[in-house]
Amino acid sequence: MIIVMGATGMTGGALVRSLADGAVPCRALSRAPHRLRDRLGPAAAPLVEPHVADAADTASLRAAFSGGRQLFLTMENGPRQTEFELRAIEIALESGIEHIVKISSPAVEPDSPVAIARGHHTVETRLRTAGIAATVLRPYAFMQNLLLLGPSVSRGDLLVGAMGRSPCNYVDCRDIGDVAAAALTRPELAGGTYTLTGTETCSFGRLAELLGRLRGRPVRYLDLPPERLRAQLTTERGLPGWLADHVVEIQRLAVTRPEAPTDTVARLLGRAPRGLEAFLTEHIDVFR
Ligand SMILES: NC(=O)c1ccc[n+]([C@@H]2O[C@H](COP(=O)([O-])OP(=O)(O)OC[C@H]3O[C@@H](n4cnc5c(N)ncnc54)[C@H](OP(=O)(O)O)[C@@H]3O)[C@@H](O)[C@H]2O)c1
Repeated sequence: MIIVMGATGMTGGALVRSLADGAVPCRALSRAPHRLRDRLGPAAAPLVEPHVADAADTASLRAAFSGGRQLFLTMENGPRQTEFELRAIEIALESGIEHIVKISSPAVEPDSPVAIARGHHTVETRLRTAGIAATVLRPYAFMQNLLLLGPSVSRGDLLVGAMGRSPCNYVDCRDIGDVAAAALTRPELAGGTYTLTGTETCSFGRLAELLGRLRGRPVRYLDLPPERLRAQLTTERGLPGWLADHVVEIQRLAVTRPEAPTDTVARLLGRAPRGLEAFLTEHIDVFR
């Protein structure tokens, strides 16, 4: 049995759909039964076993992992993320799980400029010494995150960031889900570390132009110094400090380390990754 943590989230949800498309059964985990029902829908019923579990509750994870052979490990960003992921690994080992596929990130180093990537480094390091097969997926920024910019674009015709003209790479979570499904069903892929990108890079300035063209009304890019972006995220958008720090850190990372596309998705899946323009076209109503 494949256990999918974060099945109501962006990557876990995409994985559950990808597995269901391939008629592969899985157990889908969430802390909230209603979210599982809303996210998975009735169509998944025969293949997907919904299961309620909370990484803060060791006993619930033990029950959720029981009988599992493979685990998809992802966790919402947050102050307890590393603790929760490390706990999931220990319980997976106790439960006899033989292969873990973990969602990580770029810039995974002990002294990474991105705090959350330092946490991923800790978890990856534990995984590599766990004595079981460990596959690591390191995606660039999710295209789905761009939808969070919708209100600012639709209300103010404005994209706000601190990336200057630096190119950023975006990957569609559905491609991450497809790669995760491949890693869980094709034994030759297990054990690899894969950096997942889209086909092209795109600066925020170009993104503003693209959105303006697609919706038929111009969008302007406002480039702020990092500290002003952070202040805006906490005061105007109400983000907690750690999340505002994370947004600024990843935007500055794009400036200091250009995010070139890789051919990993095409190599693993035998098809090109989904493109940014196609994604924006599909979701353009969010930006109107
Ligand atoms: N966003 C990006 O651009 C980006 C780029 C690279 C890497 N990443 C990495 O991707 C990961 C996040 O993946 P994602 O976007 O798929 O996550 P997500 O959409 O934020 O979903 C997170 C999932 O975690 C579950 N969760 C939260 N707290 C939990 C708990 N205490 N116990 C059990 N489950 C819990 C949630 O389930 P319930 O709420 O239903 O319980 C939800 O399904 C992070 O590690 C992040 O660093 C993100």
